[in-house]
Amino acid sequence: MTVQWNDLIVRDARALTASEIRDLLKVADRPEIISFAGGVPDPALFPLDAFRTVYDDLTQDDAAGRRSLQYSISEGLPALRHWIADDLALIGAPRSIENILITNGAQQGLDMLARLLLEPGREIVVEKPSYLGAMQAFSMRRPTYVGVNMDADGPVIAELDAAFAGGARIAYLAPDFQNPTGRSYTLERRLAVLEIARKYGAAILEDAAYSKLSYEGDVLPSLLALDDVGDDQNAGTVIQLGTFSKTLVPALRIGWVCAPRPVIERLVLITQAGNLHVSTINQEVALRAARKLFPGHLDTIRDAYRAKRDTMLAAMDEFMPGTVSYTRPEGGMFIWLTLPENIDSRQLLAQALEDAKVAFVPGQAFFCDHSGRNTARLSFATEKLDRIRDGIERLALLIKRVHNQ
Ligand SMILES: Cc1ncc(COP(=O)(O)O)c(C=O)c1O
Repeated sequence: MTVQWNDLIVRDARALTASEIRDLLKVADRPEIISFAGGVPDPALFPLDAFRTVYDDLTQDDAAGRRSLQYSISEGLPALRHWIADDLALIGAPRSIENILITNGAQQGLDMLARLLLEPGREIVVEKPSYLGAMQAFSMRRPTYVGVNMDADGPVIAELDAAFAGGARIAYLAPDFQNPTGRSYTLERRLAVLEIARKYGAAILEDAAYSKLSYEGDVLPSLLALDDVGDDQNAGTVIQLGTFSKTLVPALRIGWVCAPRPVIERLVLITQAGNLHVSTINQEVALRAARKLFPGHLDTIRDAYRAKRDTMLAAMDEFMPGTVSYTRPEGGMFIWLTLPENIDSRQLLAQALEDAKVAFVPGQAFFCDHSGRNTARLSFATEKLDRIRDGIERLALLIKRVHNQ
């Protein structure tokens, strides 16, 4: 008898569906396509020389080299957690290393928090639109999504209040340079979000993946920083997810969760059951690279991404028809397009790949309620300046043509 795999696979796993972005990236990889589809950093900005030195130093140091090839503790290397705690203190969020767990990228943090906090039918508040990868991690637990609309200042407070009043006790929010819109919350909105969460005793999962990619000076205080817990390691409303993926390199897969102790203790148990710990050598390399490169490298990548953002916005201002609106992000990697109502961005993508040789991500996938048919996410991170301008010109021409049909 043959195995009936579909009968064996549990409902939780069947809740997962293929990511539109990943499927799409396969096509967008062709050299003739100008791709604004990926959400990845520019490999030209990877500090290869510094990594060569870091690996050399590490493998030439007998004791450190051998230590970095051994198993290690589930919480993550203390020295790396110290580095992260010092960095958090610098941005106004002093926390103990006991509040920090190293994860296999922020994505694993999302998956582990989903295992910890979600179960079938439990409500989770998400922004409309929100990071698709987070919703994929959450969907494995089959929660009920409560979508909250965004205005230019952040999530609409009346909707957040209604979501919590309706029983939701967890919200996943990205206040800095959000994926997919590039939008950030104002300080007033950050304070209002925290106040509402506290009113209901709700927890906030703050995704800080892009927080350091700021192109207009200092970022506003994070929700974690505004959540003053004093010396109490057990207290707090906010759990923050961080990562080296956007600032150093994604391949090391080093991220972290900063959370009150009761959460960290449970996440450590989940780590022990899941992957024992994050790669020791990758943690050691990330720490050495961060010590060596920060903050100088951050200025380098901010300058490069700022130029790309400016080029994309200037091209949009020049070529896009007045019926298209778009965000003007102050950081991150993304610009969000709202097209005329009659344009379905999935159909537009098919034409864009075929005729204009341009790729982007249709916006619908980022909405928990599958709205946003006329929206699209464009990343300016990986293409060169001249191709950014060309690509926007071609896309704008196509939009004009489709709109007039
Ligand atoms: C908003 C957001 N959060 C988390 C992640 C996951 O990052 P990583 O697992 O590489 O740390 C990404 C990756 O694109 C992201 O855009």
